[in-house]
Parts: sequence; structure tokens; C-alpha cells
Amino acid sequence: MTTLITGGTVVNATGRGAADVLIDGETVVALLTPGSTLLGTDLARSVDTVIDATGKYVIPGGIDAHTHMEMPFGGTFASDTFETGTRAAAWGGTTTIVDFVVQYPDQNPVEQFALWQDKAAGNCAIDYGFHQILSDVQDSSLHAMDELIAEGVTSFKLFMAYKGVFLSDDGQILRAMQKASGNGAMIMMHAENGSVIDTLVQQHLARGETSPYYHGISRPWQAEEEATHRAIMLADLTGAPLYIVHVSAKQAAEQIALARDRGQNVFGETCPQYLYLSLEEQLGAPGFEGAKWVCSTPLRSRAEGHQHQMWNSLRTNDLQLVSTDHCPFCMKDQKEMGIGDFSRIPNGIGSVEHRMDLLYQGVVTGEISLERWVEICCTTPARMFGMYGRKGVLAPGADADVVIYDPAGHTSIGLNKTHHMAMDYSAWEGFEIDGHVDTVLSRGQVVVDGGAFHGRAGHGRYVKRGLSQYLI
Ligand code: URP
Ligand code: ZN
Ligand code: ZN
Repeated sequence: MTTLITGGTVVNATGRGAADVLIDGETVVALLTPGSTLLGTDLARSVDTVIDATGKYVIPGGIDAHTHMEMPFGGTFASDTFETGTRAAAWGGTTTIVDFVVQYPDQNPVEQFALWQDKAAGNCAIDYGFHQILSDVQDSSLHAMDELIAEGVTSFKLFMAYKGVFLSDDGQILRAMQKASGNGAMIMMHAENGSVIDTLVQQHLARGETSPYYHGISRPWQAEEEATHRAIMLADLTGAPLYIVHVSAKQAAEQIALARDRGQNVFGETCPQYLYLSLEEQLGAPGFEGAKWVCSTPLRSRAEGHQHQMWNSLRTNDLQLVSTDHCPFCMKDQKEMGIGDFSRIPNGIGSVEHRMDLLYQGVVTGEISLERWVEICCTTPARMFGMYGRKGVLAPGADADVVIYDPAGHTSIGLNKTHHMAMDYSAWEGFEIDGHVDTVLSRGQVVVDGGAFHGRAGHGRYVKRGLSQYLI
């Protein structure tokens, strides 16, 4: 099966240009001068399928390096399964996700990895890899790290918050980092000071301040900056590489920039919610409405300028990529568990379908260039998490994960009916997007085209990842 994508502008992180993309089976085999011939014959006549991309951008498939399908969390499960979540991702131009295997205290990480492989196998519409969450680091977890790296799980998430659930203390973090400094693993950090947060939560609840707004108030930027700084210091002490997840406070981004300027291998991601949404407008919505946007780290104050600084940090490479932290919960029966007590609202926002569109708005408004859009959504995630070459680039030898994006198109995000995530609301309701994901190919197969889904559960394959390309 050969496919030729003609007439489009191919955009990689390194530049753009008019080119036709020739695909053989699952693989890109050539980028060609438009109208190329093969031994005198028009190439378009020699292939099985021609896709016309005139006037459109042809980009590598998006990589969402932070999702939580079916995650057991907050007394319930994230509402997207691997099947519904990866289908929604495909609709939005994401062709690879990296999800998180969960290890709760006393569980065996390697057994948990096998469990998560079972959940995903046969269900995914697009390719998928795994990071491993380690809670309460013990000797057994440290031994498991080597085993998991051999299986393609080369990054490990630790938590400085959620005491009794995920939290590792500084000594445990130190030990995991010591291990990572020797085996090439990337340490991912949920950087918030859990003890400070837990105390503030109790104080607000005792005062009767129970609405979703107080979720944000009880997780102040100081708790994020302090934890980010502490994680950076522990990484410096051990020589471990460090990747700070879901950065929302401008002060935390500044800590990352300072560490990088000192020459430390510290990286950071932010998420669409921290670029667009705020404490005042969303978390502070009337009644219980703000629960839709309860996530951690929390949405930050627009008056304090965090959102604008996130864009600046992305443009200047102080932050390197954008993932969604897709962790959806329905309002009914899930978010509603926190009526009268914001601390019982399951933490998470669903955005896996909208990341490419939402970040493209940064191109439209001049915050980032077209190439930087591809870099932060496709290329850097591949390089950061050991998939580059196969993923994150349109070049000979790469998997034919391709998105045809129409800059003249339009996407309206409305209520449930306009998205494909298993949620009874949209955190992005009312957003009008300049641009449209027209066609999506996953390893050479058209999975979305003409406003219809053509993929299937089980097409997606496990991606056995290598070590991060940013490390030496
Ligand atoms: O609110 C969030 N972020 N939920 C998912 C779990 C996590 O900390 O990433
Ligand atoms: Zn987290
Ligand atoms: Zn997360």
C-alpha cells in the first residue's frame, strides 16, 4: 500500500517547504519535490492512494507525553478508557500518547506495568508508550527501574504531594534520583509541597470555604516554586536528569530556567490549561461549576500573569514541550463527589483531543512560530522520551504518523456533542479555533478524514522507548 500526500507545505521543527510525502506501508520513504516523476511516470499515477493537501500544512503526528487513561485516582477512575481516549486523541491530530503506569504503595511496579499493558493492548487507536509512577520509593522499586527500562519504560514519575497516596519524601526522592543518575532514566516530578497544601486545605475547610475556588487558593504558587526548587537541588546533588510536569506558576518556570542556565539537565512541560484558563475565571465560576477545572497544579491567577509567562517560556525554550495531563472526570458522579468539600473533587482536566488546535492558536496570535508549534507538540516529546526518528519528524524511515492541518479551517469546541472524549462536559467549551485537523494517518493508515473516524481499536502498538536524547 503506497500513499502520496501532494501539494502541501511540510512543516518539521527544523523548517517548512513545499514537498510531497511518499509513504510505503507504515513508513515515510521520501519527501519529494512536488510533481516528481518515477522513471518518467508521474508518481501520483504509480501509487495506490493520493491525498491532496493543497493549501494545508503536513506535519508529524502529535505526541502527548502525559495522559492518564482509566487512571484509578481520587476514589474513581479517569473516564476515558484506552479505547475512547486514544480515539479522541486521533481526532485531534495526536498519534502517540505516553500514559502512566500507576504503582500505589506496596504494589510491585513490574506487575503494575504488566497490568497496564493488558489494559492498553488491543484497545488503542494510536501508538502508546508508558512512564512509570513510583510512590513511596523502596528497594524493590529501585530494582524494578532497571527491569522497566529494558521494557521501554525509561521515565519515572515521583510526587512531592498527595500524602498517603503517591507522596515520596525527600530521602526517597534522593534514592530514586541516585538510581536514575546511573541508569539513564528520566525523573519526572509532580512538584508541589504536599504538607503545606494539606494544612491549607484543612484550614479553608474549617472556615467553611468549600467551593472549587479554594482548591486553587490552597495550592499557592509558593508551594509549586518551593517544590520545584527542592527537586532541582536534589537532582543537582545526585546528577539525575529532571523533568518537571504540569508547570503552571511563572516562579516555577523561572526556577527551571535558572537551573538550565547553570547547566543542569532540567526540563519542563506546561499544559494547555495553564496557557488559557485561570483561577479567577474558571475555578472561580459560580456555584460548583469551577469543579470542571480542578486539576493539580491548579489554574493560576491571570492578574499575576502566569499564563502569559508560560507562552514566553515556551517561545524561549525555558519550557520545552506541551502535554495535556489528560485526566478526565465527568461532572455527574465524579466531580460531584466534591460538592461541599473541594478536596474530594477528583483532580484532572481532559484535553487530549484539543492540544494541537489549542497550541496552533499560539501561531495564529504570534506567540510561537509554526516550526516551534511542531517542535513543542511533536518533535521534542519524541526526543525527550526516546522515540525520535520513528516519531516526531517527517523524514525517510519515520513512522507515517501524519497530520494534514488546514490553517483556513475552523473548529468550534462546544459541549459534549462536539468532542469525542468520554466526558459529560468540555473544559474548553466556547473555544473557537482558527485551524482544523483534516486528515490523520497513524503508521500509514488513515484514521481520521472528512469528518469521520476510520481507525480501529487495536491498531495502536506499544512503543518500546529508548533513553532520552537530551542526555549524554
Ligand atoms: O490533576 C491532575 N494533574 N491529575 C492527574 C494526576 C497528576 O498529578 O498528574
Ligand atoms: Zn502530577
Ligand atoms: Zn498527570
